[in-house]
Amino acid sequence: MSIDRPRISKRIAAISESATLAVDAKAKALKAAGRPVIGFGAGEPDFPTPGYIVEAAVTACRVPRFHKYTPAGGLPELRAAIAEKTERDSGYSVEAAQVLVTNGGKQAVYEAFAALLDPGDEVIVPTPYWTTYPESIKLAGGVPVDVVADETTGYKVSVEQLEAARTDRTKVLLFVSPSNPTGAVYNRDEIEAIGRWADEHGLWVITDEIYEHLVYGDAGFHSLPVVVPELADRTLVLNGVAKTYAMTGWRVGWLIGPADVVKAAANLQSHATSNVANVSQAAALAAVTGDLSAVAEMRTAFDRRRQTMVRMLNEIPGIVCPEPEGAFYAYPSVKGLLGKEIRGKRPQTSVELASLILEEAEVALVPGEAFGTPGYFRLSYALGDDDLVEGVSRVGKLLAEAT
Ligand SMILES: Cc1ncc(COP(=O)(O)O)c(C=O)c1O
Repeated sequence: MSIDRPRISKRIAAISESATLAVDAKAKALKAAGRPVIGFGAGEPDFPTPGYIVEAAVTACRVPRFHKYTPAGGLPELRAAIAEKTERDSGYSVEAAQVLVTNGGKQAVYEAFAALLDPGDEVIVPTPYWTTYPESIKLAGGVPVDVVADETTGYKVSVEQLEAARTDRTKVLLFVSPSNPTGAVYNRDEIEAIGRWADEHGLWVITDEIYEHLVYGDAGFHSLPVVVPELADRTLVLNGVAKTYAMTGWRVGWLIGPADVVKAAANLQSHATSNVANVSQAAALAAVTGDLSAVAEMRTAFDRRRQTMVRMLNEIPGIVCPEPEGAFYAYPSVKGLLGKEIRGKRPQTSVELASLILEEAEVALVPGEAFGTPGYFRLSYALGDDDLVEGVSRVGKLLAEAT
C-alpha cells in the first residue's frame, strides 16, 4: 500500500539545479560530441594548482597520519595558519578557534546560514547574486530579500536601498566584494557606510571574501569587519583556497566568526561530512603558508583578458558592459537585443538568447536568470586568450544579424 506523500521532501524539491554548473555541463557534453564549443560558464581558474602545493599533497599521501580522520573542524595547524593568513592578507585578527575548515567555500555558505537563521528570518541579498546563496538561505528556513542593482551603478547597492529592504525580520546582510557574478568591488567608503548601517540596526553580516586577491586597476580589497570593527562579534567571513590558488577541485574553504557560532557550525559539520579530506587540508596548509606569487601571475592574465573582453563586448550593438574590477566575470546587459530577430528566431529572454547563441555560435554563456536578474549574461574570463577572442567574436558576428 502506498501512502500519498510526495517522494521528495518539499524543502529539497524546492532547490533548483545550479544553473552555472548546468551550463558548464551542457557545453562540456557538446564538446565531447565533437562540437567546437567555447565555454564562458566556468567559475574556476584555467591554471593548474601550483607545484609546491601539489608536492605537499603527494608527501602527505605517503604519511599514514594523513589517511585518518582529523578533528571535524580541521587540522589544528591549518586552522592556526588560516588565522595567520587572514591577519596577513586583510588585517583581520582572529584566533584559530574562530576558524572552521569546510568542504569548499560552498559548505561554509551553507553552514553560515544554517547556524544563524530560524524559520522566517530575512537575509538581505544584493542582487545579481551568486546562485548558491538564495538556495542555502531557503534550505535554512530563511527568506532571501533581493536588493537589485543594475549596470548604471556598476551593480553596487546603496545604503538607501538596503534600508528600504530592512524589516523587523531582517537578521543578516549578505555582503560579497569582489562579486560573483558582476565583478563589482566596493570601495572603502562604501563598505564603511554599509557596515555602519548594519551595525546601527544590530544586523549580522555574512561576508564572502573568496575573490579577495583578484582585484584590478585602482580597486583595492577591504574586509568589512576590519573597516567596521564594531561588527566583528556579528560577522562571519567566508573564504577558501579555490580561486586564489587554482584549487577548485581540492574542496577546502573556511568560515571565520565568533567562537560560539563557529562551534555551532562545527557541530553541524561533524554530523554532515566530518573533516575535509586530510590530504586536501595538507595541500591547503602549503597554500596559505606559501607566498602569493601564483595568484599575482593569474591576476596579470585575468586583467589582460578582462580588458579584452569588456572592450569586445561593448563593441557589440545592444550590449552594455560596465568594467568589472574584481573576480573573473563580466556581466553585460543584453536587454537591447531581446525581442529582435536573429536567424529566424526572436528570443524574448536572456535564457532564450543564451540558448540560441549556444546552438548557432557554439558559445556557452550563463543567462542572468541564474543570478536573479533576467536580461544579462555572465561570462567568465578564466579561459585562454585565444578562445576568449574567438568566442566573443562569434557572439558578436551572430548578434550583428539582429534586426
Ligand atoms: C562568491 C563565491 N563564494 C564561494 C564559492 C565557493 O567556492 P568553493 O566551494 O569552490 O570553495 C564560489 C564559487 O564559485 C563563489 O563564486
